[in-house]
Amino acid sequence: MNSVSNKAIAKMKLRQSIKVMGVSAWGASASLLLACLCMLTGCNSKPAAFQVNEAYIRAVEYKADVTKPQMRDASTRLSTAQIKNVSEVLEGLFGTPDKPNLPGGVGLESFLSMRKLSVAAGPVIYTGDDQNSNGLESGLYRRHCAHCHGVTGDGHGPTAQFLNPYPRDYRKGQFKFKLTDADGAFKKPSKKDLNHVLMEGIPGTSMPSFRVLTEPERSSIIDYVVYLAIRGQTERALIDAAYLLASDNSEIPDNPNKLLVRFDSDEASNDLDYVRELLTPVVLPWTNNGTGSVQRTIEEAPAGWNSAESVERGRQLFFQSKANCFSCHGQTGVGDGQTNLFDNWTVEHLGNKPGDAAGSGPDGEIAGIPEYFYHNELAQIGVVPPRNLKPRNLRLGNYRGGRRPIDIYQRITGGIEGTPMPGNTKLTQEEGWSLVAYVMSLPYEAVSRPKTAPVFQGVGTSK
Ligand code: HEC
Ligand code: HEC
Repeated sequence: MNSVSNKAIAKMKLRQSIKVMGVSAWGASASLLLACLCMLTGCNSKPAAFQVNEAYIRAVEYKADVTKPQMRDASTRLSTAQIKNVSEVLEGLFGTPDKPNLPGGVGLESFLSMRKLSVAAGPVIYTGDDQNSNGLESGLYRRHCAHCHGVTGDGHGPTAQFLNPYPRDYRKGQFKFKLTDADGAFKKPSKKDLNHVLMEGIPGTSMPSFRVLTEPERSSIIDYVVYLAIRGQTERALIDAAYLLASDNSEIPDNPNKLLVRFDSDEASNDLDYVRELLTPVVLPWTNNGTGSVQRTIEEAPAGWNSAESVERGRQLFFQSKANCFSCHGQTGVGDGQTNLFDNWTVEHLGNKPGDAAGSGPDGEIAGIPEYFYHNELAQIGVVPPRNLKPRNLRLGNYRGGRRPIDIYQRITGGIEGTPMPGNTKLTQEEGWSLVAYVMSLPYEAVSRPKTAPVFQGVGTSK
């Protein structure tokens, strides 16, 4: 009896301390309200829940001991109680898919708007009979994005497995197409960058343009994508911390179950301070103390950047070690220079052959045989089968990050985060633009035309 009431008191304390952090509630009142609503409306489906990032848990366990290529045995894994604890902490900080929260005290309230989040989150509910999304009260994300990107933002919506490339898993917090990356460093995308992706879509992939949405709708969804990314990164940080705790053999006083936040103990508020420390390095790169990431300014292309001489200089650079483009994109630019590349989302689930130390395999960084680590258990927790990332075929003229010369300049000098495509910091501005000119000329070279190109009536044939 006594321990039950102690537990209740501790939970109450925790709620209070979380309120101090700025989190509005532990979700209890929300679920009560939902239950009432359901009683009235007769719905009996469970409220939407975020999925635990089990794939990351497996990856962390695996990396802690790469000599065991198969799954670690149950005794050395995070326990069910530890995983549940991480989920509870995460829910306290970020709420649920129907009722998002923002953890306070880390500068998020001024960076993301609760009002926008609530329009983007939740089930699809219309305010009126407006068939356009303009009448939407909530559920923008679930209506437009979740079938590909998943309710959790894990990139595992029901459509995902059929798409190539797979929809993005936001939880790693890495984004590809942005004007914030410079000087060899990857930054978080600015909201402007995300809006650009929503306006243009990602050509050559299934990611559509959302130009048809209104500006306020896009802006709400953007806040929600950032929220999902920060939530996902926090989850990863919590899993890392839980794992450190779990694999620490020394008996931590009063923490026999090795829980990150001991809800039913006086240590709860200390534990929570620790959690807050984990949040800061996740949040700061996004908020940049309020300004958000800043796009770099790319000076205008020098006159004559796309002249024949410039194209020729670009062609030479393409094959020189300074630019080294051919090593991946191939001698002819069709993307066959490197055939064993993977993106960061996939690398996480690749493993080594038994006996290989990490990184010492025949493929260098990505040691080992991918299929070896991708197995049944990963498939069951929703990890999609790994696919090779091909360097782009530059003869097709398909540029995912945009086909304006400035977009391509940014890809070459800023790189593409999450992929092996490097940001080249050695090139002079002029050389960078020459490479843009060369890349953009490739689709127009005679050899780029398909041999079976249709012959149009009256053109090229005379009978
Ligand atoms: C039909 C499937 C599909 C739908 C619907 C979809 N996406 Fe995507 N999205 C993708 C794919 C595929 C990618 C990955 C493209 C790549 O990696 O090159 C992607 C990537 C992204 C990215 C990453 C961009 C970057 O720079 O890395 C963002 C952000 C994004 N989507 C947001 C959204 C939002 C917001 C919605 C809803 C308004 C949405 N997507 C709807 C398929 C989809
Ligand atoms: C280490 C391998 C590697 C090197 C070196 C490399 N690339 Fe790439 N590049 C890639 C990969 C992989 C992609 C595809 C990324 C993706 O799918 O998101 C890519 C994509 C591209 C794209 C397409 C951008 C878009 O918006 O779709 C261009 C253009 C490009 N590279 C040009 C270059 C040029 C020019 C160089 C030399 C300065 C270069 N690359 C060097 C691997 C490389």
